[in-house]
Amino acid sequence: SKKPVRVAVTGAAGQIGYALLFRIASGEMLGKDQPVILQLLEIPDEKAQKALKGVMMELDDCAFPLLAGMQAHSEAKSAFKDTDYALLVGARPRGPGMERADLLAANAQIFTAQGRALNDAASRNVKVLVVGNPANTNAYIAMKSAPDLPARNFTAMLRLDHNRALSQLAAKTGKPVASIKNLAVWGNHSPTMYADYRFATIDGASVKDLINDQVWNKDVFLPTVGKRGAAIIEARGLSSAASAANAAIDHMRDWALGTHGAWVTMGVPSNGEYGIPKEVVFGYPVTCSGGDYQIVPGLPIDAFSQECINKTLAELQGEQDGVRHLL
Ligand code: NAI
Repeated sequence: SKKPVRVAVTGAAGQIGYALLFRIASGEMLGKDQPVILQLLEIPDEKAQKALKGVMMELDDCAFPLLAGMQAHSEAKSAFKDTDYALLVGARPRGPGMERADLLAANAQIFTAQGRALNDAASRNVKVLVVGNPANTNAYIAMKSAPDLPARNFTAMLRLDHNRALSQLAAKTGKPVASIKNLAVWGNHSPTMYADYRFATIDGASVKDLINDQVWNKDVFLPTVGKRGAAIIEARGLSSAASAANAAIDHMRDWALGTHGAWVTMGVPSNGEYGIPKEVVFGYPVTCSGGDYQIVPGLPIDAFSQECINKTLAELQGEQDGVRHLL
């Protein structure tokens, strides 16, 4: 049987954590033959640590055959010791009266510390997924704070945007979600993301031709996907949790186990692809194999798409400029 791998999860007692840990421990993320050790991080606050112990009691009570060990931590360096995977979910939410700059600064502090801790303690091949918002910028900060680790191993979650877009396209075309191939989402995990179905196909037929409605694309599809997070908060009174956890599972599973040629979306540091400045953590269509990802090359970018990409890039560069002095 396989040797256990170490999976660190931050914000483990939060709502995404509660929807995520049980699925990791059951083998949905890394395979039904891969034992895992969970290294769970929460803030030192007594209530958070107590809640984390409660979640761990429930994990025990599932008697998961693949759960080979589990630890609670209140300090990043010990939580990330030798970890093979790190899901950075915990972040500072925007409080009442908090300005955008304050939010960026609070998260910059968290993600510089966690980047350094990964740099010092994690496996040299650690795969990092940042879920906590602003996810792309937090991933950028962690990457810049971990100079001894491969920059390409720092990724941000755009998979929820990807899955939301798939579901809207399935509803519009009346076809099963699983039949849709080659969807791309570009840019920031924010309402400015650009979900791009120009290359998408269903049973070999072009989704763009099937829908044939640029007004729907612009006025219905993109705003629906972009504002979906706000719509969930409005309806549920809480932000997306189960769907966010599901997207995190999808992202890590595909990265680790491969997509067999299928496109998925990951936020990854640019090497200049599609004119995005180097190091900007940007949503791109990728394929995964051998535990690595490749950005899908050579896609034509038309005028409308370029405009959308420029807008989401400008937002990301604004965020990045807002934290550069803190790095
Ligand atoms: P939550 O507030 O329920 O849980 C967050 C947990 O993180 C809390 O238990 C808190 O104590 C902990 N935490 C805060 N700072 C920490 C630190 N420095 N180290 C360790 N733990 C820390 O929030 P929820 O709903 O679980 O969401 C978590 C994050 O995910 C938020 O930033 C949210 O905006 C983001 N998110 C991102 C999505 C994406 O698609 N990228 C989708 C949905 C949410």
